[in-house]
Amino acid sequence: MGYIVSDSKKITTKRIREMKQTGEKIAVLTSYDYTIASLVEQGGVDMIHVGDSASNVMQGNYTTVPITIDDMIVYGRTVARACRRAMTCIDMPFGTYQGDPYEAQRNAVKLIQQTGIDSVKVEGGEEIAPAIELIIRSGIPVFGHLGLTPQSVYQFGSFAVRAQEEAEAKKLLNDAKQLEQLGCFAIVLEKIPADLARRVTESVAIPTVGIGAGPHCDGQVLVVQDMLGMNMGFSPKFLRRYNNLGEQIIESVGNYVSDVKAGTYPNEQEQY
Ligand code: KIV
Repeated sequence: MGYIVSDSKKITTKRIREMKQTGEKIAVLTSYDYTIASLVEQGGVDMIHVGDSASNVMQGNYTTVPITIDDMIVYGRTVARACRRAMTCIDMPFGTYQGDPYEAQRNAVKLIQQTGIDSVKVEGGEEIAPAIELIIRSGIPVFGHLGLTPQSVYQFGSFAVRAQEEAEAKKLLNDAKQLEQLGCFAIVLEKIPADLARRVTESVAIPTVGIGAGPHCDGQVLVVQDMLGMNMGFSPKFLRRYNNLGEQIIESVGNYVSDVKAGTYPNEQEQY
């Protein structure tokens, strides 16, 4: 059974913040193209995120490091055209915000202006505070991201669970408070222990949105291809598959190939 959307009003950062106060969980999925984003929106999600995971699922890269701002603009534009109700967000790709804060601000403006997406997401805490401050000051809502921040995978050395040691957990908690003070509207918590995600969620007034961070977050986010079962080789513990589209697509393509080879497609009704 599907989810019944109770109103068609555009979701904004204000509504996302209110959802934490009223205890309504926030449902977020990624999308990178018009067709999928239209379907995801009709499914009733609160937010659609144009993740730099497009580097993996759309471009076939091992990490999110190679994707560029121009690539993200193409994906973002197509998603923005599909969204009426869901709030939208786009990742600032690696290298576009970690250096000069003014360059970060210019890049955030470029992403928002050229895509029509509502907000940007950046990975990291106090190290990128000056950039976050300037981006928010220019009127762009910022979604924070802590824990496993995939753009830093080469520094981490793996995609393993983060903040299992108290020192890193303490830094993450402080970073979350700083992101709140800077004015971020929400924070993604990726692949951290569920108990730490609970502590963070209870310590900040802005919503937390988890991926591999347990049930205590104010919302959840998944990569749409992963939850639909299209990315069959990827099966981390946190992933729940809601379909097996990968198998269904392969079977459908196989049936089409057989019909073409056998000369049974097109038939009389399928011609002019
Ligand atoms: O790139 C991405 O898809 C993300 C979400 C999973 C949070 O950052």
